[in-house]
Amino acid sequence: MAVDTGLLLIPGPVPLHPRVQEELAKPAQPHYGDAWIQAFAETQDLLRYVWQAPKGKVFSLVGPGHAGLESLAFTFLRPRDRVIVLDNGFFGQRLAEVLATHRIDVEVIGSEWGTGFDLPKLKMALAKPAKAVAFIHNETSTGVTNPMDEVVELAHARGAFVLVDAVSSLGGIPFPGGKLGIDAAFSATQKCLAAPAGISPLLVAPSLWEATDPAAVEGWYLNLFVWDKYQREWGSWHPTPTTVSSNLFFAVHRALALVKEEGLEARFARHARAAARLREGLESLGFEPVPSPEVVSSTVTCMRPPAGIDASALAKGLHEKHNITISGGLGPLRGKTIRIGTMGTQAEPEVVDRLLGAMKTLV
Ligand SMILES: Cc1ncc(COP(=O)(O)O)c(C=O)c1O
Repeated sequence: MAVDTGLLLIPGPVPLHPRVQEELAKPAQPHYGDAWIQAFAETQDLLRYVWQAPKGKVFSLVGPGHAGLESLAFTFLRPRDRVIVLDNGFFGQRLAEVLATHRIDVEVIGSEWGTGFDLPKLKMALAKPAKAVAFIHNETSTGVTNPMDEVVELAHARGAFVLVDAVSSLGGIPFPGGKLGIDAAFSATQKCLAAPAGISPLLVAPSLWEATDPAAVEGWYLNLFVWDKYQREWGSWHPTPTTVSSNLFFAVHRALALVKEEGLEARFARHARAAARLREGLESLGFEPVPSPEVVSSTVTCMRPPAGIDASALAKGLHEKHNITISGGLGPLRGKTIRIGTMGTQAEPEVVDRLLGAMKTLV
């Protein structure tokens, strides 16, 4: 029986391409052996491609985006390290919260939701030595894409490394990891890469890797030196420390191959076009964007509905009357905004137009 899944337009997970979905229905395969080794090696190359970092060390850590963050924290940070977190939304706050649980000395530099980072304050904070500067590339709670160049320059000038959350940008918004010299970054597969959730792609710059003493890292599963050891020592047959779901891994491999087939530049342009079409359509219906125009995201659109229209009721109406699922606001924007993903398979004009057509019946 065919199931009408409607239209899933939340900022991840996103609908799967049929070629990705078919991988999930295949019989289980071993997480070792020749076919596995070939897919693993191709995935490593594809990850370097999507991170735009030909010399980067890359990992497909099994777990959600947060597991990727914790693996970077365990591997490259120590209790009492001073880390400056740039915060302009819910996920910036979450980043600070997670790092604080690692007993890191977190200093938060906040700026208003919907605006970019406070660089003068960052400059001042960097007058005191810091181990790292951490931030969200694309703030999913407000639909803001934070420019990275100046932050990286300021941090590196003061000897701090940069740790970046690219969860809702990787594969949808340019992330020139190699060119910018991003030291450590994590993402998740269920957003612009349009794969199932469950793997956190990681990027580590060789300079940060070499500067880190493996003996100082505590723990095992989230210790990237353990992942590296298995790649080096068992690489010819079993390149990961634990069992990996073969269906999940082959689905991610297929999704990454589709990114390469499309080409990053074409993919970024497709995301930008879809988000612009959505923004223009919603603005013509009286919606107001939360982000300032210079930092507006092309993967997540966050808008306040026209006066007199309740954001939660709108999302409910779309779901009940049109079988379209969107997200609401987070934190202080809860009940006040709607959030729509145009990521991977969602970033298509027909998808945007179907949503706009449904929206017209409700506002
Ligand atoms: C910017 C950002 N960071 C982190 C996360 C958390 O990702 P995960 O649920 O895969 O741990 C999300 C999820 O929406 C996100 O948008």
